[in-house]
Amino acid sequence: MAKRVVLAYSGGLDTSVAVHWLQRERGLEVVAVACDVGQGGDFAAIRERALAAGAVEAVVIDAKDELANDFIAPSLLANAMYEGRYPLVSALSRPVIVRHIVDQARRHGADGVAHGCTGKGNDQVRFEVGTRALAPDLEIVAPVRDWGMTREQTIDYAERENLPITATRDRIYSIDENLWGRAIECGIIEDPWESPPVDIYTLTNETATAPVETTIRFEGGLPVALDGQALSLAALIGRLDRIAGASGFGRIDIVENRRVGIKSREIYESPAALALIMAHKDLEGLCLERDVMHEKERLEPRFAELVYDGMWFSPLREAISAFVAETQRHVTGEVRLRFTPGGGAVVAGRRSPVALYDYGLATYDAADTFRHEDAEGYVRIYGLGITTWASRQGAGGAGASR
Ligand code: ARG
Repeated sequence: MAKRVVLAYSGGLDTSVAVHWLQRERGLEVVAVACDVGQGGDFAAIRERALAAGAVEAVVIDAKDELANDFIAPSLLANAMYEGRYPLVSALSRPVIVRHIVDQARRHGADGVAHGCTGKGNDQVRFEVGTRALAPDLEIVAPVRDWGMTREQTIDYAERENLPITATRDRIYSIDENLWGRAIECGIIEDPWESPPVDIYTLTNETATAPVETTIRFEGGLPVALDGQALSLAALIGRLDRIAGASGFGRIDIVENRRVGIKSREIYESPAALALIMAHKDLEGLCLERDVMHEKERLEPRFAELVYDGMWFSPLREAISAFVAETQRHVTGEVRLRFTPGGGAVVAGRRSPVALYDYGLATYDAADTFRHEDAEGYVRIYGLGITTWASRQGAGGAGASR
């Protein structure tokens, strides 16, 4: 049995009660670790809350650049979208949190880690499989899954024990947020027929009244500047969220297949993520050799599935990332995106110094350099098998009547 655990602490109701409960019910010392992944909030206050709930130590870690550079970047290179539509917002922050709770467990001499996930979601899978991949010796404790309290009972517990919580009894949505976007669950949106109420959105709105264009510069597959201004990936995502979000672009409403066999209705807001994936894919169209591009497209859904399923720290995810990284050396250039009021976005233009697009080969004008005389023989040989089949068995052959 573990004696000291490092808890992935969010500052919310469940993890605050967990600090107390792990101590009271399981006799564990709790080190609370809160990771800033861009969700916003007052981390000094979050740290105080953990200590007030009984944590022996509380640590705040700024993991924003790490999330951007080590997790979002490889995901963008892979154009990763689970089930073709979800840019893996929550799925990408879990491995960075896992990395830190494991690291803090080592630093604080803990023999276990704990998380505040329920038994119905993907996040427990990501925490636990991730932890086992990095530190198979650590014990894993999941208080929220074990204690069997309803939300009401959890609030009662906090009030009874004088734990400082900010939760109210009429909270309606469960929200998970980081640099890459927001995930919204619970409440009225649990009915897949109901339209999402507009008050759930914070990154997207309809303030723009005219189309807006923005130019993204990519180097080696990664965005490095917005409208000529060089920015870190984390800063660029924030800026693009505001530009795209102002036109209402970036909302996703899907029924998704969880790893644990449950279908759930999910609302996401990910303006920058969707815009960057759109732009990146488009630039690949200009810069990637055809076979490389097609092979990469076959691997992309697999990458997204692995990350969604909690397999970030797995040999297959790493191998696919190595392949993807190799394809990105010449994905350099600019993409101009146009956002239109009401949530529309299109690629308005793209250019690259290493484009495989060749004007002389593509044009029908006088500048044409294509060797037309080569085409006849090429096409005849390409279709030779079909020609033979047609003359023997198909429309022109003896077998035609059968
Ligand atoms: N369904 C999404 C996922 O599995 C979002 C999960 C959001 N997590 C949360 N604790 N609200 O990635």
